Amino acid sequence: MNKPHINIDSFWLPRQSSTLAEKVDFGYYAAYWTGIVFFLLITGATVYLVLKYRRRTEKDKTSPIAHNTALEVTWSLIPLVILIWLFFVGLRSYVYASVAPAESYEIKVTGEMYLWTFIYPDGTAVVNELAVPKGRPVKLIMSSKDVLHSLYIPEFRVKQDVVPGLYTTIWFNATNAGDTALLCTEYCGSGHSDMLATVKVLEESDFEKWIEQQSGPSDLPPEELGKLLYAKKSCATCHSVDGSPMQGPTFKGIFGRNEEFSDGSRVAVDENYIRESILNPQAKVVKGFPAVMPTFRGLLKDREIDALIAYLKTVK
Ligand code: CUA
Repeated sequence: MNKPHINIDSFWLPRQSSTLAEKVDFGYYAAYWTGIVFFLLITGATVYLVLKYRRRTEKDKTSPIAHNTALEVTWSLIPLVILIWLFFVGLRSYVYASVAPAESYEIKVTGEMYLWTFIYPDGTAVVNELAVPKGRPVKLIMSSKDVLHSLYIPEFRVKQDVVPGLYTTIWFNATNAGDTALLCTEYCGSGHSDMLATVKVLEESDFEKWIEQQSGPSDLPPEELGKLLYAKKSCATCHSVDGSPMQGPTFKGIFGRNEEFSDGSRVAVDENYIRESILNPQAKVVKGFPAVMPTFRGLLKDREIDALIAYLKTVK
């Protein structure tokens, strides 16, 4: 599986790929350079004064000066003004990030252990791939099916908790066409670090085409469509095809395998078992694996389930 990647073009921060990024980075660098300048001023002055007024002879005395009002007012007022300025720099981008434009394109997001589902206005549901139009405000309306997750798109500088029983939102306006990474940034279990998605920023016309293509090419033979879905619907996040155990049991040689379940019962894997495991994964949980698979009810059409079954028969 291709891991989505983040474009880096400066030492500290990822590429700026949304209209928010510039504002967030301005706040970051304002605090950063303020810190550097004051570090140099204060440590520089300290080192200089320590050397200049060090005790050279037994007779050297400490200065009798107790305080200097003008100096103290100055070194209080200058930082105060800088802090108020930093507050407004932060507030400005916070307000910008908080209020989505009314004409935003809305996409619903569900987080669950360990995948992301994106549901478009026409009902198209896509797993672990978020395509968005370039240069148009997009609002994500997010919720979790199980535990706390957090959606983070570093290049867009957006990050927000995804919480069960609650909707949270973020919005962005993407400025660079191309791919970037979306990741879960709240530890949610053993598959947390694989809870990744690709963000595809597309020109408006390509975006319309992408939406149309999501129902899957209809001319593919079932095994090939199944193979495509195995990658696209993120089965590959938890099930290998090379025999190695991941979050879930491997698909290598699965068809016809005599599987033992956590309640001690056994069944030979057939079409019905696979279908049941896709739609109602907790019905029969393979012994030795956690019962964490999410249901794909509503996310896969019958044709797609048939295709997956056809593909699994070929994984030997
Ligand atoms: Cu979901 Cu970490």
